[in-house]
Amino acid sequence: MKIGIGHAHGKIILIGEHSVVYSQPAIALPFKGVQVSVKVTPSEDMTIDCIYHQGLLEEAPGQLDNIKAVTLEVFKRLNKQQNFNIHIESTIPQERGMGSSAAVANATIAAIYDYYDEVLDKQTQFELAQVAEAISHGDPSGLDALITVSDKPLYFVKGQEIAELDIETKGYLIIGDTGEKGQTKLAVQALGQRKLENPQLVDELIYGLGRLAHSVKELLKGNDLYTIGSIMNKSQQYLSQMGISNSSLNNLITISNQSGSLGSKLTGGGWGGCMLALSDDLILAQQIEEALLKNNARQTWVLAF
Ligand code: MEV
Repeated sequence: MKIGIGHAHGKIILIGEHSVVYSQPAIALPFKGVQVSVKVTPSEDMTIDCIYHQGLLEEAPGQLDNIKAVTLEVFKRLNKQQNFNIHIESTIPQERGMGSSAAVANATIAAIYDYYDEVLDKQTQFELAQVAEAISHGDPSGLDALITVSDKPLYFVKGQEIAELDIETKGYLIIGDTGEKGQTKLAVQALGQRKLENPQLVDELIYGLGRLAHSVKELLKGNDLYTIGSIMNKSQQYLSQMGISNSSLNNLITISNQSGSLGSKLTGGGWGGCMLALSDDLILAQQIEEALLKNNARQTWVLAF
C-alpha cells in the first residue's frame, strides 16, 4: 500500500518569545532531541490516530482543529480529495513551548505531499503550517512554523527575510519541563490586552526584549557565555513583568540559578511549559538537570550548541 511520510522536530526559543509577535527579533534553535513523524495511508474514512484521538477526524476534539484545517488546505492546494488515516507519533511534549503543534502540522503537510510525490517548497510549507498555527495560537509570529523544519538556528523578524544563524559559541542549554501545559494562545491574548491597557510599559518591555535578542545574536559570534547568561536573566525579568511567567517556571529558574546556571529564563509561550538554563560545562549541565528533577521538573534535556 502506498504511504506518505513526514517529519519535523522540536524547537527552543533562546530569546525573544512574545516580543517576536510584535515584530521584534527572536533567536530559536532546532531541537532534534524530540521529534514527530506522521504517516498517511489511504483509508475508507478520514481518520486520525494520535494521543488525543483515534477515530474519525471530524469527531476529533478541539486540540486537533489545526490538523483538520491544514488537511483541507493541503487538499485545496494540491487540488486533490481523498480519505487518509493520519498516524502521528511524537516525542515532543504537547503544549510545553517546544513547538509541538507547529511540528505536527509541518509533518502532516509533508506526509500528504510525500504521498502524492509532490514537491513541497519552503514557502508553501510555511504558508500551510501558518493556517494550522493560526488556529492553535491565534496570532502566530511564524517562528514555530519555520524552526520546527529548520536544520539551522534562526534569527527571525516577522515579515523579514529569514536569516540562518551560525553560532560560534559552545555551550549547553538545560531544558526543564514544569509538567504544566503552557497556554500560549491565552498568554499572547493577555499580553495584547495588557498592551492596550498600559501601552508605554508593555512597549518598553517588548523593545527591550528586541534589543536583548539583537545583543545575543552578536554575542553568539564569540564565546562570552557569561554575558549571554546575564541577558537570559534580564529577559526573564522582562517576561515576568509582562505577566508571562508563573510560579512553577519561577521555581525551576531559581533552582537552576542556585545550581550554577549562567542564566535562566522561560522558553516559548509561558504560563507553564518549559524553562532554559545555560552552562559552559557538560558536568555542570548534568548537575543542573539533577537539581531540576529533584525539584519537580517533569523531564529535562540538554542541548549542546
Ligand atoms: C510560542 O512558541 C512563541 C510565541 O512568541 C508566539 C509566537 O511566536 O507566535 C509566544
